[in-house]
Amino acid sequence: MEFRDAMLARHSCRAYTDQPVDQRALSMVLEAANAAPIGRRRYENVHLTVIRDKALLRDITENARRVLGDPEVNPLYGAPVMILVSVRADEGKISPVNIANAACVVENMHLAAADLGLGSCYIWGAVQTMQQSFELMYKLRLNEGFCPVSALILGHEAETRPARTPTVKTLELRFLDGE
Ligand SMILES: Cc1cc2nc3c(=O)[nH]c(=O)nc-3n(C[C@H](O)[C@H](O)[C@H](O)COP(=O)(O)O)c2cc1C
Repeated sequence: MEFRDAMLARHSCRAYTDQPVDQRALSMVLEAANAAPIGRRRYENVHLTVIRDKALLRDITENARRVLGDPEVNPLYGAPVMILVSVRADEGKISPVNIANAACVVENMHLAAADLGLGSCYIWGAVQTMQQSFELMYKLRLNEGFCPVSALILGHEAETRPARTPTVKTLELRFLDGE
């Protein structure tokens, strides 16, 4: 797909089929993650975890339900893959640069998924609930000193959506051109 077409096709998919994501497509999404810009090239500050274990995906959903107090919430929308982005948190504090790094990684993967015709969605909410469960954090087997901050869920879309119409009007915009 042309880059512009992939960008306009990208959207947040919130309904997935049971079909697994094949390894080649997953590898291309992970290549996109690795091509993302990272502040000061501190690649060692970012860590990826590909979660395909159905029981663990269920645990993440159950934990979010418990923390949010909503037994109906389905924050991973039945996606078969979650690519969790964790960042180094020195003395438990996450630098804003690392949040930005994670966002760049997720967006690169999101665009790659759109290019491959796969559905995906940036996940923040459920990820923020993870640290409230020691048991869940243990199961994630993150490197010491790392915190999960964002994720991309990935899978085959249950229903397709037409590409968006290009516009410069969604975001407020001001030009400062000088004299
Ligand atoms: C930083 C960030 C966090 C997000 N977190 C979530 C989330 O936790 N759950 C969710 O369903 N969508 C999440 N989204 C997706 C946005 O809701 C979505 O991008 C927005 O509604 C615009 O829709 P579009 O992606 O289809 O253009 C997040 C997006 C961003 C950029």
